[in-house]
Parts: sequence; structure tokens; C-alpha cells
Amino acid sequence: MAEENKSSLDALSALCKRRGFIYHSSEIYGGMPGFWDYGPLGCELKQNVKQAWWQFTVRGREDVAGLDATIIMHPKIWKASGHLDTFADPMTMCKDCKKLMRSDQVKDIYADQKKKPQPKIAGSDFFCPYCGGELTEPKPFNLMFKTVVGPIDDPSNVAYLRPETAQAIFAQFQNVLATSRQSVPFGIAQMGKSFRNEVTPRNYTFRSREFEQMELEFFIRPDEAVEILHGHVVTLADNPDLDGPVQDDWGWEVWHKYWVEQRKKFLNAVGLPTERFVEYWQKPDELAHYARACVDIEYDFPFGRQELEGIAARSDFDLSQHQKWSGESQMVFDDPLKQSAKKLDEAARKAFIEKVQADWTSRGKDAAAAEKFCLDLFDGKYVPHVIEPSAGVDRLMLALLCEAYEEEKLVDDKGKEDVRTVLHFSPKVAPIKVAIFPLIKKDEAQDKLAREIFTKLQKKVNVMWDVSGAIGRRYRRQDEAGTPWCITVDAQSVEDGTFTVRERDSMKQTRMTYGEFLDMLYTALEF
Ligand code: GAP
Repeated sequence: MAEENKSSLDALSALCKRRGFIYHSSEIYGGMPGFWDYGPLGCELKQNVKQAWWQFTVRGREDVAGLDATIIMHPKIWKASGHLDTFADPMTMCKDCKKLMRSDQVKDIYADQKKKPQPKIAGSDFFCPYCGGELTEPKPFNLMFKTVVGPIDDPSNVAYLRPETAQAIFAQFQNVLATSRQSVPFGIAQMGKSFRNEVTPRNYTFRSREFEQMELEFFIRPDEAVEILHGHVVTLADNPDLDGPVQDDWGWEVWHKYWVEQRKKFLNAVGLPTERFVEYWQKPDELAHYARACVDIEYDFPFGRQELEGIAARSDFDLSQHQKWSGESQMVFDDPLKQSAKKLDEAARKAFIEKVQADWTSRGKDAAAAEKFCLDLFDGKYVPHVIEPSAGVDRLMLALLCEAYEEEKLVDDKGKEDVRTVLHFSPKVAPIKVAIFPLIKKDEAQDKLAREIFTKLQKKVNVMWDVSGAIGRRYRRQDEAGTPWCITVDAQSVEDGTFTVRERDSMKQTRMTYGEFLDMLYTALEF
């Protein structure tokens, strides 16, 4: 889409309301900040985004299994993961107007205001962006929603709505390993609701309080295990082929980059061209202490460049934490590793331990722990490391809507100007794939044939029937819904069974048989 035609968020949100993509939650009661509902077209788009992710991440691969866990889990999970202690945003309050806001967003909120307030206190550089009043010192505010399980409202019954889907994957790691016929390296994927009590939900659905995530935890061997197995570890410096099949001798760095590339392929496939997003590699001082690398894929939303999703190399932090807090081993037994370790003589083992100790201590870790880790490896045992591609369904939908939206200027044969609003969705995610119209509603033969085509296609994809208004108006309605093709049944159709297919983006019409149309449709929907 041309840059000058990029939507403002206002125009896009007006279309989303008008056409039934997105509504305020509980609108008749005044709405709830940070909560959004998806209407008829929105929920189709959402289903398609989730199905596309599942196909690409789980069903289309041999090394990923799925999981669908509960939203409320044992509260110790959040202690182990660190969310209870550290999942907080710095919050501040205006002493005058009492508005609460994230202290790290004060500047942005100020910049967003049309009428910018002046500070009420001379010399103040940290003042309320709404009224200019004095702000309190920032305090950490935990983002998890609390609830009570069972009838007794007692602190011992407090539980939390999950703030991410990922932790259930770690908590169920051993069950999935035992029942999925997978072995490391392999992944576990989950999609579903997450909840964060965001201090200032902003920018339409971008930062919501209830949203959905699509997360993959891809478990890999520690590099030291790869070294024992293969005598070397492939790193990015070796220029590995990331487009070909995955390789057993890849180290964590290569797996991480591989998943960054996979995610970019997925985003391309659902309609975000590569040139529309950027990879932001977090700097060492921005990384969480356990993370080895983290890449944010950022998209140019109408309100600025923002994180769309992230791909983190999280070492063995999560499984080790759950091992510690649950008392249940999270180690795997890797027989090929044990067989390779058997081939190492005493001197080789000693040299290996010393090398690992030198590496660990240079990274501030313990030499005794390094030795224990090596001895476990020689027995074929370790806690797997993990690469985590984590995406937000709603955020991706917002990016797809922004990307698809265009107010296209048209000039007809007589030089008359017109504007067509169109959503250029990829057919893979478009809420309606095909709209079917009889050209003349009152023509019984046309109506009958169009109905037959509609009923046949309805069994395969989401289709729409429309007989009201002139054909041009029907096309425009479908353009606004992002429908890639419109089939019109006319007099010739009744004679020879062919129909015209009008393509949304080019507006070109082509006469086709039903079989030709199906071939084109299936090719466009394939991953
Ligand atoms: N397990 C890792 C994790 O949850 P995150 O960066 O906090 O990492 C991952 O979240 C993705 O989830 C984000 O990149 C974004 O797409 C989505 N997400 C996070 N918070 C969100 C919110 N408040 N509203 C909408 N989407 C959100």
C-alpha cells in the first residue's frame, strides 16, 4: 500500500466499527478501557490468523506438538516464573487530577495530547500530561489480575489469570514429552487468552488488558551437549543454511536466528511484506538476566514503530525454575548424547569439564555447578534450553488491518473522481473469501445457479451471498470487508456454466469455470 494512503487510526477504527470488525467491550454501558470485542468480520479474521499460525507452527512441522492449558493455574507457577515478584510496570499518579499512568509513558501521553498542559510547578520536568499537576514518585504495579478460587475469599485461595500462555507449556513439559513421541529438539505451541492489568491501555487494541497470544517454546540441547554429540557446534559465523532442513549440530544462536527467519516468513505469508517491519536486536544491557538474545519484530503502526512480536533465547531458566519450585525433575534423558559421551576417555572428560568451567565462570556462574552439569551430560541428562517466538493475535490483527487499509483514489472513463475504501487482506486471512451474486436478482435461472455455486463453496470456505443493490455497490461492500473475489452469475453463466470473477485489488474481471476457480482459490489459501 502506498505510504500516502496509510490510514490514520481514526479512519481505520471507524471502518472496523461500521463493518463489524471491532467494537468496544460492554459498549452499551460505556465500555471498559483495554477490552475489545470482535464482530462478525473480526472474529473470522481472528480465526484465520490463529489457524494460519497453527498450520505454520504446528501442523506443518514434524517437531512441534500442541497444548491447550487452563487460564488459571497453580499460583506457585507465577512465583517460579518470576511474575509475582517482577512482572510490574512503574506507575505514577497525578496529585491534582488523580489520573494513574505508567511513568515511562508520561512523555508519550503528553506528546499525544492535542492541548498540551503547562507544568503547574515552575521548573518541573515531570508533570501530569493531562492537567500539568505534580506527579507522585513511580511505584511498581504488578500487572497480574487476581482472583479467588472457591467460595472462601481468603489470601490462601488467591490465584491469577495468566499473563502469558508460555508458563503452562513449561509446567506441562514432562507430560507432553512423555506422550507426544517427540525428543529434543522439539517445540510445544499454545494459543489462547492472556490478561494484563495494563496501567494505561492505549492505541486501540495494541495494548489491551485481555488479549490472545500464540506462543511456541522450542526446546533445544545446551550447546555443551551438541559439542559432545558432534565434536563441534554450528554458530552463525559458520553461515548455516536457515532455509533448508534443521540440523542436529546447530547451537542456540543458530536456532534463535532460524526462528526469527521462520517468523518473518509467517508474517510475509499472512500479508506483511518484509520491508514493512524491522528486526530490533536487544542490546546486552536490555536483556533479561537469563536471556541470551532477544529480537523484537517491529511494525510501523500509524502511532509509531512498535513491537509486533518477540523471539527470545531464554536458556534453561524457565524449566530450571519450575524444577526448583516444584521439586519435580525437568531433565530429559538423551540416549544419543549418553552413547557419544561413553566414547570420551577420562582425559577428554576432564578437559571438557575444565573448558565448560572456564566458560561458565567467565559468565559469572559457579564452577561446581558447571562440573555437576558436565557429569549429568555424560549420563545423557540435562534441562533443555528454549527459544521462544511469542506473538499477540490482536496485535497482529491490528497490523494486518493497518497494512490492508487503503482509501484508493479512482478516476472513471469520464474523468469523474471517486474514493474506494478497500482492505487488501491476503486471501489466507480475509474474513470472507468469496462473495456470490446473481447479476439480475429477479432472473430465476441466474438466482438458482448462483445459489448452487454458493452452497457448494459454503462447504469449503467462508462465503457471502448478496443480491441487494447495483453490482458496483455490491463490489464496494466487499472491498470494505477485504473479500478477495466476487463471483457474478449472468446470462452467459446460465448458457455455459462459466461466471465472472472480479479480483479485489486489480478490479479485473475474468470468466472462469467452477473448476478453474477452485484451483485458483486453493492455491491462494495454501501455506
Ligand atoms: N512469553 C513471553 C511474552 O509474553 P511479551 O513480549 O510480554 O512476551 C509477547 O508478549 C507478545 O504478546 C507481544 O509481542 C505482543 O504481540 C503480545 N502482547 C503482550 N502484551 C500485550 C497487550 N497488553 N495487548 C496486546 N498484545 C500484547
